[in-house]
Amino acid sequence: MHPRNTLNELTGREWIKATKSWLVCDSRRYRRNRDTELHPARYPEELVAEFLSFFTKQGDWVLDPFCGSGATLVACVEDKRRGVGIEISARYAEMAQSRLAKLDDGDKAIVVHGDARAAGDPPTWQEMDGLPVGEDGLPQFDFIMTSPPYFNMLRTSRGGVESTQKRRAKQGLDTDYGDEAGNLEGIHDYEEFVEELGGIFDGCARLLRPSKYMVIVAQNVRVPEGYVRPLAWDLARRVGETLSFQGERIWCQNSKRLGIWGYPTTFVPNYHHHYCLIFRKGQ
Ligand SMILES: C[S@@+](CC[C@H](N)C(=O)[O-])C[C@H]1O[C@@H](n2cnc3c(N)ncnc32)[C@H](O)[C@@H]1O
Repeated sequence: MHPRNTLNELTGREWIKATKSWLVCDSRRYRRNRDTELHPARYPEELVAEFLSFFTKQGDWVLDPFCGSGATLVACVEDKRRGVGIEISARYAEMAQSRLAKLDDGDKAIVVHGDARAAGDPPTWQEMDGLPVGEDGLPQFDFIMTSPPYFNMLRTSRGGVESTQKRRAKQGLDTDYGDEAGNLEGIHDYEEFVEELGGIFDGCARLLRPSKYMVIVAQNVRVPEGYVRPLAWDLARRVGETLSFQGERIWCQNSKRLGIWGYPTTFVPNYHHHYCLIFRKGQ
């Protein structure tokens, strides 16, 4: 390890490999996981591990304000980091908690059943054992990694008899995040949605130590009316007003089924990639 490297525990060779702007990640463990399949939009623990190894060291504290099935927290425990996740849905908060309970050291991560809008408020953080807290009463995280709802993508019917959503519905699995008050999927206006997310990430930025990083995983979304909402790009712009945008790594899913959307008249992309948007607090 280079003596001036205070960010991570990588060798020079590992560091350079981790700067390639795309990565393929869709392991079998991710696709076939009975503990998490109820949740309709997860990312793989392997994806989190990739970013943890670059942006943190062992023992560092990591926040996921949209924790879902707990992938970030599971990866944190497996890689000897400390994690806190916020999740609005009681059933996903329980899912994350029960996954942690099965791990050795699962108590090194904490699930908060709550609203990410309150992430910047001191009361959210009262009585959280071991979490470093600054003079303003707010915790100090070393890294934030998360993936918010992709606007109302899961709620808009997307044609195709073999669509993932239709298959999930048939199997009795969730096709959206549910009806809890505060669920951001309930916002119908796109501009309002981007601004609401922007406000949440402003709050999260207050919890980040100076010079530390935040990674937001997001996708552009094609709406049924036939145009694309560039959510990933809009988030890069909006969050970039508060934190410094450092670029992206593109997470490619190479084993996902292709849907039949516009054939035989219209180009409709099969979106099998996500933007991992990388921001830094200061330079
Ligand atoms: C894309 S999913 C995150 C999935 C997670 N990365 C995983 O791998 O399981 C977004 C999550 O945000 C949650 N959510 C929606 N609105 C929220 C809010 N206001 N506060 C906290 N969580 C919220 C949803 O219930 C959903 O689980």
